Amino acid sequence: AQIVQAEFIKSSVRTEDCPSDGLPEFALVGRSNVGKSSLLNSIVRRKKLALTSKKPGKTQCINHFKVNDSWYLVDLPGYGYASAPQELRTDWNKFTKDYFLNRSTLVSVFLLIDASIPAKKIDLEYASWLGQNQVPMTLIFTKCDKRKKKKNGGKRPEENVNEFQELIQDFFETAPPWIMTSGVTNQGRDEMLLHMAQLRNY
Ligand code: GTP
Ligand code: MG
Repeated sequence: AQIVQAEFIKSSVRTEDCPSDGLPEFALVGRSNVGKSSLLNSIVRRKKLALTSKKPGKTQCINHFKVNDSWYLVDLPGYGYASAPQELRTDWNKFTKDYFLNRSTLVSVFLLIDASIPAKKIDLEYASWLGQNQVPMTLIFTKCDKRKKKKNGGKRPEENVNEFQELIQDFFETAPPWIMTSGVTNQGRDEMLLHMAQLRNY
């Protein structure tokens, strides 16, 4: 599948305000700084469609990007952003959880997990919440280009990926599909496009 065109449509803070044309969509969610916006740019081959930043907390709304006039990629704010005001964090939980549970055109949530570090408690909690609420999801491991570093636990991305899947297996009746990616090398881009095409055609 070759992407020919992608455009920003709108930012929303409530599920009711999201586009109402009924097109299928995929939402990118994950810890702040995990690489959601970078992955979105890599998928559509546009360096600056979704804004990225070294500072966590760049994305603050539900952002809809329309691809080929026929489906949406949705960039969501990151969770676990410790320096956000408490008020804002509660709000985040309210509006993204409402979006996951009530957005009828949502085909799959893409839960992004940083493969360059060991599993984080907040990611496990998030996977558990999605599993318990039976929200359809795909595990997307990011930053698979990064080499192992002592300060990051000294494990290769493959090892972190396997460990994460072991840790979440009890939350799901059937293990969620998973893809290894990098916004830097574009690893996993074709696999993600194929995966999304398959899900749309069900
Ligand atoms: P928020 O919007 O704040 O929640 O962050 P985000 O998840 O959208 O992360 P973003 O795409 O802005 O990337 C955060 C940082 O990680 C940036 O400095 C990126 O350059 C870097 N980064 C993102 N993806 C990758 C990747 O695949 N490999 C490497 N090495 N770095 C990456
Ligand atoms: Mg972002």
